[in-house]
Amino acid sequence: MSNIPGYTHGTPVVSRSPVSLTDFEQMKASVLLGEEDVKYLRMSHDIVKGRVEAILDVWYGFVGSQPHLLASFSGKTDGKPLGDYLAPVRKRFAQWILDTSRAQYDQAWLDYQHEIGLRHHRVKKNKTDGAPSTDLVPFRNLFALIFPVTFTLRPFLAEQGHSAEDVEKMYAAWVKSCLLQVTLWAHPYVKDGDF
Ligand code: HEM
Repeated sequence: MSNIPGYTHGTPVVSRSPVSLTDFEQMKASVLLGEEDVKYLRMSHDIVKGRVEAILDVWYGFVGSQPHLLASFSGKTDGKPLGDYLAPVRKRFAQWILDTSRAQYDQAWLDYQHEIGLRHHRVKKNKTDGAPSTDLVPFRNLFALIFPVTFTLRPFLAEQGHSAEDVEKMYAAWVKSCLLQVTLWAHPYVKDGDF
């Protein structure tokens, strides 16, 4: 068991993903994520593992600089940023960076993807940390964030002397992985039967 509060990956409290591993295989094919990408994601693991806090400083800085994004981490009534919400989510976000670079696409991973989707949606937002925040991360922002998240990661991938080709391939693999993950997270936002 992990000692990160609220990180329930691989535990029985996480419900089964409505998306099957077979569906997920097809999604991988749709985004052109193959074995080579898995190799490059895992190559990135050694780079990102020592840089998680610096990466999160950039990402949290980005969210914090845009009031419409920060609103999702702020009090529902007073609109003030909630430190007791931002901090525990950041710990799980750190773990997510490592999990993404491990690229271990098994049932437990798929199930936790669904859980992360629910936690952005009104079904489960705020519940893990007991946060008095807004009810929903609006879907319109979820997808858009894939670009800043991956683009600002790129310099980190390049800072340890890997070839330009390796950096490019690690970057592409991260973009594909984030596209897949955010698509999985979209499930609760999509009308029944339309996913
Ligand atoms: C939670 C990643 C987009 C707001 C999380 C977590 C991760 C994550 C890893 C923690 C999941 C866990 O509990 O284990 C991402 C990524 C995004 C994205 C990769 C886009 C590519 C957004 C956007 C917002 C947002 C656009 C709005 C500002 C939140 C909030 C939580 C959260 C409020 C806490 C949810 C809760 O109450 O449990 N996100 N996120 N996220 N994210 Fe995102």
